[in-house]
Amino acid sequence: MALTAPQATGPELKGPLDFEDSPLSRASKQPLMLGLFLNLQDINFSSVPTSNSWTFDYNAELVKKADELGFEIAFSRTQWLPKGGYDGSASLDSFIALGAMSAITKNILLISTIHVLYGPLHPLHLAKYGATLDHISRGRWGINIVTGHRAVEHEMFGWQRIDHDKRYDMTSELFDVLHRLWTETENFSYEGKLNPWSINNGWITPKPLFGRPNLVTATGSPAGFDFAARHSDLVFVTSPGGAHIDSALETLPDHIATLKNRAAAYGRQVKAIINPIVVSRDTEKEALAYADAIEAGKPQPGTRAFATNNYDSDAHAWRGRGDARHKQGRNLGGNIEIIGSPEQVVDQLVGLKKAGIDGVQLNFYDFRADLDYFAERILPLLKEADLRL
Ligand SMILES: Cc1cc2nc3c(=O)[nH]c(=O)nc-3n(C[C@H](O)[C@H](O)[C@H](O)COP(=O)(O)O)c2cc1C
Repeated sequence: MALTAPQATGPELKGPLDFEDSPLSRASKQPLMLGLFLNLQDINFSSVPTSNSWTFDYNAELVKKADELGFEIAFSRTQWLPKGGYDGSASLDSFIALGAMSAITKNILLISTIHVLYGPLHPLHLAKYGATLDHISRGRWGINIVTGHRAVEHEMFGWQRIDHDKRYDMTSELFDVLHRLWTETENFSYEGKLNPWSINNGWITPKPLFGRPNLVTATGSPAGFDFAARHSDLVFVTSPGGAHIDSALETLPDHIATLKNRAAAYGRQVKAIINPIVVSRDTEKEALAYADAIEAGKPQPGTRAFATNNYDSDAHAWRGRGDARHKQGRNLGGNIEIIGSPEQVVDQLVGLKKAGIDGVQLNFYDFRADLDYFAERILPLLKEADLRL
């Protein structure tokens, strides 16, 4: 894909990584940033029982624990699924829920997923809500920018899915405009070219503390990489080799280099974050037995729970899954799978760091129990391995 010249983004429009004292700059000093994936929905990957719950209280307990443990990032997804989705349970909106978590946490970055094209949400709304959360969280809140990869979601909002690359062009125009609203010192007017909105003497206060809220993109496509290189601070990358750690470690270095080179071409830097599920027990044998049990309890093709997880998607980011050229993972939940004893988990994390990964957004099968285990048995080893300050 040919690089296009940046429009409104440029060296004069600064983001949190341009400020030495921003929460994101402080977080980035860690050799390997630690993030926690919060499920604001009940994910029943398997019939093996868990403590997991979609409720705010359950997830608030997890985020407070992660904050106290020194994790740098908490993130949650948002999906718009018809009745029967979310494995049939309820699901909280991550814009609101992670925003609310800024009042009960101190240091952790809080990243809400927002489908920025749906509605469409007017840029003045998004700019004002974002500026408000930026100040409540003191620069810790951010947006995981998603454009909507599932046809059924666009249809729920009353139109057919917009073409993949066009979605990124529309989103790019939106974020050029948002950046202006967050930084302009005078009223700002703009007529949407790709988007169906306009602004007449728009004015947003308060101005975000570090240029704008933290921006994240979850993508694996050329158009998504180009968007992220221009606009985002963190990129949730996925393994081109699928979920198995060996294939991930083989394919990630080139993938991450492509992303970071694209950002450098715009005079910017981005951090690469990946989303593994960690399945760990004291010995390799016990960890494998835990992973085997989860796998054995997964819904089978043809059953209802399996069907709700298979809506039509045009996302590139998960295409490594099922690619016969790569060693296959077990599909336990995260984008990649880290299975083993605490020492083996650390070895795999060291491998990811060497592949160019700057942080991990951790998924667990049973969040409360497995986060406690991670804190007690794995976190101290990360310091010994120089992955944590
Ligand atoms: C860690 C991670 C979190 C994601 N969260 C969401 C989400 O909450 N909602 C959603 O619609 N898509 C989510 N996605 C999927 C991306 O939106 C999807 O991959 C997107 O279509 C990017 O497409 P591309 O790879 O084709 O650019 C997530 C992807 C990753 C890797």
